Amino acid sequence: MKTTRLSLTVLLAIALFSSYSCKSTMPARNGIEVRIDKLLAQMTLDEKIGQMSQLNMGFIPDTAQFKKAVRDGRCGSLLNFFGVKQVNEIQRVAVEESRLGIPLIIGRDVIHGYRTVFPIPLGMAASWNPEIVKKAFRISAIEASTQGIKWTFAPMIDITWDPRWGRIAEGCGEDPYLASTLATAMVEGIQGESLTDPTSLAACAKHYVGYGFAEAGRDYNTTYITEPVLRNVVLKPFKAAKDAGVLTFMSAFNDLNGIPTSANEFTLKQILRKEWGFDGFVVSDWGSVPELINHGYATDEKDAAAKAINAGVEMEMATTTYFDNIKALLNEKKITMEEIDNAVRDILRVKFKLGLFDNPYTDPAAQKKLLDPSFLEHARTVARQSTVMLKNDNGTLPLKEDKISSVAVIGPLADSPRDQLGTWCFDGSVESAVTPLKAIRDVLGENKVRYVEGLQYSRDKRTAMFDAALDAARRSDAILFFAGEEWVLSGEGQSRGEINLPGAQSELISELAKTGKPLVIVVMAGRPLAIGDELKEADALLYAWHGGTMAGPALADLIFGKESPSGKLPVTFVKGSGQIPFYYYRNNTGRPASKESWTPMDSISHENQQNSLGYKSFHLDYGYTPLLPFGYGLSYTTFSYSDLNLSSQVMDTNGSITVRAKVANTGGWDADEIVQLYIRDRVGSITRPIKELKGYRRLHIMHGESADVEFTLNYADLAFFNGKETLTEPGAFDVWIGPNSDEGLHSEFSVK
Ligand code: NOJ
Repeated sequence: MKTTRLSLTVLLAIALFSSYSCKSTMPARNGIEVRIDKLLAQMTLDEKIGQMSQLNMGFIPDTAQFKKAVRDGRCGSLLNFFGVKQVNEIQRVAVEESRLGIPLIIGRDVIHGYRTVFPIPLGMAASWNPEIVKKAFRISAIEASTQGIKWTFAPMIDITWDPRWGRIAEGCGEDPYLASTLATAMVEGIQGESLTDPTSLAACAKHYVGYGFAEAGRDYNTTYITEPVLRNVVLKPFKAAKDAGVLTFMSAFNDLNGIPTSANEFTLKQILRKEWGFDGFVVSDWGSVPELINHGYATDEKDAAAKAINAGVEMEMATTTYFDNIKALLNEKKITMEEIDNAVRDILRVKFKLGLFDNPYTDPAAQKKLLDPSFLEHARTVARQSTVMLKNDNGTLPLKEDKISSVAVIGPLADSPRDQLGTWCFDGSVESAVTPLKAIRDVLGENKVRYVEGLQYSRDKRTAMFDAALDAARRSDAILFFAGEEWVLSGEGQSRGEINLPGAQSELISELAKTGKPLVIVVMAGRPLAIGDELKEADALLYAWHGGTMAGPALADLIFGKESPSGKLPVTFVKGSGQIPFYYYRNNTGRPASKESWTPMDSISHENQQNSLGYKSFHLDYGYTPLLPFGYGLSYTTFSYSDLNLSSQVMDTNGSITVRAKVANTGGWDADEIVQLYIRDRVGSITRPIKELKGYRRLHIMHGESADVEFTLNYADLAFFNGKETLTEPGAFDVWIGPNSDEGLHSEFSVK
């Protein structure tokens, strides 16, 4: 009896499935809506709830139980379930054994590479090169898709102004414009040219929204963000992702101005749906629905589910408050069937768009694509372009291979494959990570390299290896010190209060500096560290982030001059934690400080009078400038900027002007320069930042040559939200073209 019923169900499922999968009758894009309607009309409430639930494999280790849930239509998505054989089998259960044959969407965190690991996203942002970033995400998607993964929880595009926050590593830094251009590149890379291509994954813009403004940089902390900052800064990359066609959004963990973001109707419904017209689906973050209880926004799980659903969170990740409570909530009229249908509709739409109904399986033959030599080569290019040179006195770098008789390679990050892969790296292969030590040995030969760890890991405080390190340094022509942070010190839940080099690294660096040997420091870290002291001690310093699988060869390329460093900082570097937040996109204050008005703490006499300290906006100890400005980075060559000119000094309503300059490579190297365009809106209906990035270009200029660079500034580019409306206001504007946010040629124009 049971068998008969089951066979009938299977037959029905096959019949329905084949009607959905028949390519010849596949309707055009708007036909997807018809297919969704038909499917929705056949779904039971349980099946709808299933679509809104994402199960984590780890929670249900019993495969039979897991398969039953899928067969019963009790889950629409899985996370942390991968491997082509496993995925194809569970997908088979979904499409062949569940009543309606709705395919699963399999998600995983592929944040900066799958097996081939690219620099952490903050590092990639330092390349200011959307093209190579897009290709990196394309490669990540190709690799991940071979394992049956069809959805990645990337890009992470939270703007942050706080380097204490561990998740700064995962994002694109502090600036809305740079982050928006990279968000577009990342979405395009992940989702590919055609969504139905087997290597295309659904991207997920996260964490929506404001998560990077966690107070004190402490992860998961409360955020207070004014609506102008929200709209002018924080939302910008999310809007760019939406415009690039991102299929999903992830709500966040943070409480935003008193309403947690996983229950925030204003951001999820008003902005995302009504203003932007997003028609993909929103997934919660892991546990962010039941966490509404801890926030003090929901009384219990049932209440939490109601609030999240009513706000527009359509799929619940990992936890089961939807699964457990939707029926009761409908009975009690706390949520409506319309809300449920909308959610399911949005989820099915994404599955249809990805072509999952037509082609739910993964081709096992695709696996050979992992770690393809061309992928590794690209990882090397990205790591090279992500590295920022912060100092190079007396041409210390590059080291001349033929003139160097030996180098001392020292430091906890010199040979630490796992650390260089960085945070959020579940699937990277440690075995294929090439460390700086290995790469330097490959260039110079074993005999010319004296390697002493000095410290075993970044937090190591033991000085036992100092003597050996100093000895190696004294006997070598130059010191290459690989400093930084272990991977585990940045990323989710890994915030720090102090952001200096951990352990005894600074002590060892000071000792090494005393040897008088040229000291090159390479910092490999997940955040911009407060490295003021080390910068002083070093003759040259490269900031390399956690550079991924090919970090070693990429650094060797730069150290030995195969290519010039060309990255620029995507974040302001502060002098110390006490200076946070310090970002270039800041307002001027009523009392801006200057060189003349700053009173350094040690210069104040004991008898000083109350009224003689200048009364300007500075810290007595840090001063009024950061350690290094946003956009900063050096090259082996030099560039000079000239001939700034504007097509007009006046911009008409809805008009545009062209801003041009000449950039000459005046040094001895062919190299890339990242040319930046900034503006300032001098007076506004609300105060405006002292600088705003409005364009950039990475140009390759041969030595002795120059390039003309041209930017078009449109009327709409000058618009901002003033608390009531988004508009471009008439008045005077400054404009700069330059090498970073602190320098540049200046002109001005006015808007009518
Ligand atoms: C929690 C993180 O906040 C999010 O970024 C990630 O995608 C999910 N866990 C899934 O692992």
